[in-house]
Amino acid sequence: MNMRREFIIFTFASLILTLGCVMKKNQENKLVKEAFDKAEKQLKYVAQKPADTTGIPRSTNKDGSFHGVKPGDWTCGFFPGSLWYTYEFTKNEQWKKDAEKWTNILEKVKNQKNTHDLGFMLFCSFGNGYRLTGNPKYKEVIIEGSNTLIKRFNPKVGCIKSWDRYPWSAKWQYPVIIDNMMNLEMLFWATRETGDSIYYNIAKTHALTTLKNHFRNDFSSYHVVNYDSITGEVITRGTHQGCADESAWARGQGWGLYGYTMCYRETKDKTFLEHAEKIANYILTHKNMPGDMVPYWDLFAPDIPKSPRDASAAALIASGLLELSEYSPKNKEEYFKAAEKILKCLASDQYTAEPGTNQYFILKHSTGNYPSNSEIDAPLSYADYYYLEALLRYNKILERRN
Ligand code: GLY
Repeated sequence: MNMRREFIIFTFASLILTLGCVMKKNQENKLVKEAFDKAEKQLKYVAQKPADTTGIPRSTNKDGSFHGVKPGDWTCGFFPGSLWYTYEFTKNEQWKKDAEKWTNILEKVKNQKNTHDLGFMLFCSFGNGYRLTGNPKYKEVIIEGSNTLIKRFNPKVGCIKSWDRYPWSAKWQYPVIIDNMMNLEMLFWATRETGDSIYYNIAKTHALTTLKNHFRNDFSSYHVVNYDSITGEVITRGTHQGCADESAWARGQGWGLYGYTMCYRETKDKTFLEHAEKIANYILTHKNMPGDMVPYWDLFAPDIPKSPRDASAAALIASGLLELSEYSPKNKEEYFKAAEKILKCLASDQYTAEPGTNQYFILKHSTGNYPSNSEIDAPLSYADYYYLEALLRYNKILERRN
């Protein structure tokens, strides 16, 4: 009799547990599905128009009107990249056609010599396109772009020079910004595809030099390190988009987290993994990180808690943490949960725009460049891009787990 009762209780408990797991899985999948549904509604408005070499979505102007850019603007690869991610999720051929159309107009960027941003511009667009279609033309473009980018490497400094395209960049002799970590992914890829180690060696050297010179003892990073191009010595450390030289510009911390996680993936060098973990720890335990985990535009911004947030930093951090959770057994759950929290918040009405509003960008409340009074509390194409990327990464992890 007792045995029978125990059996019934056990069966009932198992049923509840299974039901609970199925409901949780459905809830999580629902988050991703609903987020992509909303993204599709927004992106298609511009995606389905003829590709416009003067109107690649970047942000909004101060009056709320649409701000589009030309090929060569550092953000030009993100909109095509978002279209590729939408194709990846939906498998709908129309998204592929639109992604191709908006990618193809960027080809000339492969010869652009005055910036380090070729990785952002080419790898988010042609890189995702190549990954998803294997189009050999895309491969040629990325390799040519990589050859252009490595010409900016100075072996004495051990870094690729970031800027000389802007009038204000003349105030530094050899500026290297933390953002530049993101351009290395294309170079690692180029070595894999061509078998030529030059790209890998430059990328790894750049990452090691940056690790040595860009970070403080607490693993926060400076935005700009200015080098002497003859001796390779550091001249100054400071900021361009943060609130102070010694502050922690939120997106910069995200570029570092994402960048070193990617460097570990590409090199399997534990130095990079440990560094990414320390950056993650800095971000996740920061005293000024708000409860919803969408950081203020600078972690030391004045007027906290009234300072504007930066949803682009949150999306980037979520994407980086999800990848890092795969490499870091001891912190796996912590990183995954933090990223999940960010995604849930970004997917809420607080940050996701009502379809048909926000100039058809997906997310609200990012900050582009606060000190220049530009793109404050605005949508940004790269917030959307890293948000979709993070959703895809989250979805893949869930599928593997369930
Ligand atoms: N790479 C420039 C920025 O993050 O605003």
